[in-house]
Amino acid sequence: RGCKLIGCGSAVPALKVSNDDLAKIVDTNDEWISVRTGIHNRRVLAGKDNLTDLAAEAARKALDMAEVDPNDVDLILLCSSTPEDLFGSAPQIQKALGCKNNPLAFDITAACSGFMLGLVSAACYIRGGGFKNVLVIGADALSRYVDWTDRGTCILFGDAAGAVVVQACDIGEDGLFGFDLHSDGEGQRHLNASIKENETDHALGTNGSVIDFPPKGSSYSCIQMNGKEVFRFAVRVVPQSIEAALENAGLPRSKIDWLLLHQANQRIIDAVATRLEVPSEHVISNLANYGNTSAASIPLALDEAVRSGKVQAGHVIAAAGFGAGLTWGSAILRW
Ligand code: ACO
Repeated sequence: RGCKLIGCGSAVPALKVSNDDLAKIVDTNDEWISVRTGIHNRRVLAGKDNLTDLAAEAARKALDMAEVDPNDVDLILLCSSTPEDLFGSAPQIQKALGCKNNPLAFDITAACSGFMLGLVSAACYIRGGGFKNVLVIGADALSRYVDWTDRGTCILFGDAAGAVVVQACDIGEDGLFGFDLHSDGEGQRHLNASIKENETDHALGTNGSVIDFPPKGSSYSCIQMNGKEVFRFAVRVVPQSIEAALENAGLPRSKIDWLLLHQANQRIIDAVATRLEVPSEHVISNLANYGNTSAASIPLALDEAVRSGKVQAGHVIAAAGFGAGLTWGSAILRW
């Protein structure tokens, strides 16, 4: 069996935060942020907004475009590192969409690579598991884990959701040709939001040794990042990964209509495009308006490019995600 992308959708929170807005809370300015990152604005969840609703809105738009009834969805993959529920929010999206046939719904945690892993997982479930209509949603609210006093990180991130519908098809119509996925736990020190070691009481264990008990509860620290290392990592691994995915797909670089990378930094996007010799007019970028929206960035940029008519039926897209974990991966797709 083959699988193809037949619909996309996205949603962003209403609250827009500009570089000038950030300059009121940390020592920064529009020029520094624009020149170093390419970001001008980002959207942030506020008030009663929540990520599950945002993800469900993106999913509904993707289902509408695909003309697939929610009751015909048999798998929902929520790619998110910031779910509303520690145990996963995908079933809440299934509930919000009103899918009455109880499709399998679960979360995938892989930071900014999450959507790529979700997409490849969808293809595997379709090819090997007999699934027919799979919703892949990338949704993140990193604003909840940003230290808003740290100018090195708070300028980078925004909140958003994006979704695609992947459907089973004959192998002749296959729309996912090749992929390449990796991780490297050694690099976690460069980018993480780790669990905090909260203080606990001391008690005696059964053999008389002192143990920490009961635990005082846990929380996660804000995002810690070594920007320069992450930059170097992305520029090194992403071109290699796209080359590997192209080789797996049996396609030359010249077949790429669009380069669609995780939207982290315009300088990373430009450097990867240069290494792959993809001209700038074939590169999709919308991070100026949304910043780095983690697992949402690829489907959000894809949705805008499809709805604006840039990406058209039959176009070949080289997509790649990279980020915390460290994780990275690419896929060659036909829209
Ligand atoms: N405004 C003004 N000055 C700043 C700011 C700011 N917002 N942030 C840092 N600076 C200062 C620093 O304090 C430093 O000052 P100093 O020279 O007096 O010490 C100077 O600017 C240079 O700082 P660097 O951190 O070296 O700046 P760099 O050129 O590396 O740019 C940036 C920083 C934009 C973060 C860059 O490293 C980058 O984009 N890296 C990639 C990060 C990324 O994409 N992360 C997301 C990965 S995806 C995921 O999974 C979450």
